[in-house]
Amino acid sequence: MALLRFSLLLLGVSSVIASPARIARQESMTTTVAAATPAPTAWDEGAVKDFTIHSSCNNTEARQIKRGLDEAMELVSHARDHILRWGNSSEIYQKYFGNASTGEPIGWFEKIVNGDKAGVLFRCDNPDGNCALEADCPRMGHWRGDNATLETVICPLSYETRKSLDAMCGFGYDVANGATNFYWASDLLHRLLHVPKVGEGVVEHYAGEYDECIELAQTHPEEAVRNSDTLQYFALEVYAYDIALPGTGCAGTWTATSSEVPSATLMPSATETETPSITSAAPQMASCTALEGKTDSPVRIEGSG
Ligand SMILES: *[C@@H]1O[C@H](CO)[C@@H](O)[C@H](O)[C@H]1NC(C)=O
Ligand SMILES: *[C@@H]1O[C@H](CO)[C@@H](O)[C@H](O)[C@H]1NC(C)=O
Ligand SMILES: *[C@@H]1O[C@H](CO)[C@@H](O)[C@H](O)[C@H]1NC(C)=O
Ligand SMILES: *[C@@H]1O[C@H](CO)[C@@H](O)[C@H](O)[C@H]1NC(C)=O
Repeated sequence: MALLRFSLLLLGVSSVIASPARIARQESMTTTVAAATPAPTAWDEGAVKDFTIHSSCNNTEARQIKRGLDEAMELVSHARDHILRWGNSSEIYQKYFGNASTGEPIGWFEKIVNGDKAGVLFRCDNPDGNCALEADCPRMGHWRGDNATLETVICPLSYETRKSLDAMCGFGYDVANGATNFYWASDLLHRLLHVPKVGEGVVEHYAGEYDECIELAQTHPEEAVRNSDTLQYFALEVYAYDIALPGTGCAGTWTATSSEVPSATLMPSATETETPSITSAAPQMASCTALEGKTDSPVRIEGSG
């Protein structure tokens, strides 16, 4: 009886002294109780974290594609991390994206690194017959377009020409004058952006050449952040500047002539290659480049660089 009376008294006191602190404590206790038993769900069951390399690739090819994709992830995650760290205060950011907000390029890069990769396939056979379509303008690979939107074909010439990311700033490469597909990593970044599951048909070719991309940043920043070549140039430049040659990089200074004859400096030089087809094709590379970026066809002519 005495105990009961004591509790009633306490209850009375608590309702009289309703201090803000007391109310806050009651609210937080209530929240805790409500959230106590969330049903566990395997929400990402079936998630695919790796790209698929088709059985048409032999071991040698598959290993090189795998390495190239790993390097692409390294290149792209650094591009994302650079923006996350420096935002639009980065001079390199402003150079390529102007005053555009950072969310979109971060999003594309992050999507490539951590987006679901189910069905995204790289193959080495030549199902559409495009690898050898034009002998004088051999292709490095192509997105299969409507024939298989998730699929990319890597043609034999890629293995002879694409460079490892470790070679960043080597072979006379610089960002301004080099081809965006000089490295496996940036070449595969480009190919991935074509896959609608990745680029959503929004990442497109709004500008191609380096000088056009720089101009686009100032005139149409909203397109720069979804321009395939801009995303590649930016990723290459920040990787070179932050990682490969810290504080130096190899941004280069664009010269008009370099874009007209990219093959002269950026293909492995004819004298150093063993393959006759590359040698004979080299003079034609500039015209292949001319087609590159200027066609809306999903079949991209990719002879250069
Ligand atoms: C695998 O592919 C590479 C590059 O296309 C080629 O050089 C090599 O001969 C192939 N290996 C075999 C065992 O067929
Ligand atoms: C950077 O972003 C801030 C915040 O949105 C904005 O106020 C500023 O104008 C931007 N600077 C540039 C150079 O775009
Ligand atoms: C960028 O600058 C242009 C004018 O130079 C302005 O119209 C536009 O709103 C700006 N965009 C952002 C995201 O600040
Ligand atoms: C799709 O397949 C057809 C027939 O094989 C071929 O002619 C066409 O070039 C292919 N398209 C692409 C984008 O490769």
